[in-house]
Amino acid sequence: GNKNINAKLVLLGDPGAGKSSLVLRFVKGQFVEFQESTIGAAFFSQTLAVNDATVKFEIWDTAGQERYHSLAPMYYRGAAAAIIVYDITNQASFDRAKKWVQELQAQGNPNMVMALAGNKADLLDDRKVAGFGLQEAQVYAQENGLFFMETSAKTATNVNDIFYEIAKRLPRV
Ligand code: GTP
Ligand code: MG
Repeated sequence: GNKNINAKLVLLGDPGAGKSSLVLRFVKGQFVEFQESTIGAAFFSQTLAVNDATVKFEIWDTAGQERYHSLAPMYYRGAAAAIIVYDITNQASFDRAKKWVQELQAQGNPNMVMALAGNKADLLDDRKVAGFGLQEAQVYAQENGLFFMETSAKTATNVNDIFYEIAKRLPRV
């Protein structure tokens, strides 16, 4: 029969990577050029139907600024899923994403479904993630048991898809 699943999901990543923009695109179908930097964290919920289940995502959109780092465990603790977001035009944001992956591997729920989002895919011409690009992110994700997608909150590319892929991977209790 059809199952109802509640899933706590957290977004982590550098300030400006586009966490809030991805959530706004997924939940409201909107994009704003001048999205304000998140303070603390923001909560949203959205329901998605997959083949055999209806998944209600309870989404914590965390603040990327360093001064909020100590709050992050409150949001990822007990989370069923995480999306770690970096900006494909910003190498430092990819390095930071890897740190988040390490922190989740060390402290997070061991069954957590983890996704890596290389956001701002609409800015491919600005790709500055020098010498690494798409392929290195794919390899990194595979080695670390994450799944990876390039996304664009601006054009909506792969935004619903990444949530859908997470929904499919959640354990069916
Ligand atoms: P913090 O809340 O500070 O941690 O940042 P954030 O990760 O939530 O980033 P946010 O969503 O606020 O986006 C930062 C800026 O990047 C905003 O001006 C967005 O308009 C822009 N932006 C976000 N996603 C995209 C995208 O896919 N493409 C482009 N071109 N711009 C984007
Ligand atoms: Mg934000």
